[in-house]
Amino acid sequence: MITKPPVIAIDGPSGVGKGTLCKELSKKLQWYALNSGIIYRALAIAALHNQVDISAEEALIPLVSHLINLNFTPHEKEIKVILAGKDISMKIHDQQVSDVASRVALFPRLRQKMLSVQHSFRVFPGLVAEGRDMGTIVFPDACVKIFLDANAKARTHRRMLQLQDNGVSVNFNQLLSQIEERDERDLHRSISPLITTDDALIIDSTNMSIQKVIEIALHYTRIQLAKA
Ligand code: DC
Repeated sequence: MITKPPVIAIDGPSGVGKGTLCKELSKKLQWYALNSGIIYRALAIAALHNQVDISAEEALIPLVSHLINLNFTPHEKEIKVILAGKDISMKIHDQQVSDVASRVALFPRLRQKMLSVQHSFRVFPGLVAEGRDMGTIVFPDACVKIFLDANAKARTHRRMLQLQDNGVSVNFNQLLSQIEERDERDLHRSISPLITTDDALIIDSTNMSIQKVIEIALHYTRIQLAKA
């Protein structure tokens, strides 16, 4: 019997370490990885590049077709992102792009259109997908669901180190308020808000190293996969 490729869904707020966990699990299992935030960020870049009004859902929807040409490949530190043949890796984490991505992500019809882009990543032997609504909306039948959490200060600290590692200097308080602002939008939007569900393992990583998070998630994943 041919079933759909299995999915591990990882959800959580921005800067919590979902990307690292997703990369590590996909490496260990030799499965594909989907960082869904990059899809929203690529759409934001396309909107900015084409000077599309980001408050107009109808104007943004045609841009989803640009994402057919979106490719991302693991890179040493960051993911290399190519949109329509252009390397947009350097822009993907810009503050303006982060802000626009979380604003365009509020539109219900746009999110609906983004589903097929995300579903196209579901291929054998399996997919590790991370975002805000992986286990609830995009892959509700995922065989493993993990909700990774940490308080805003811990996430700001991690994001700051990551940015510094990439040569970007930032102010802690400024970054904290940007993260809190994005949390507010991601948590309280009417469509696909970031929520925990009963079938997800919740890991609060506020006082935990990423190595420990990976260890817990991998152990849980192996148990769930053995049951599936
Ligand atoms: O994970 P990230 O910070 O790179 O995501 C950028 C924005 O994209 C985030 O603020 C909200 C949006 N997003 C979303 O709405 N749903 C997802 N599954 C992933 C990201």
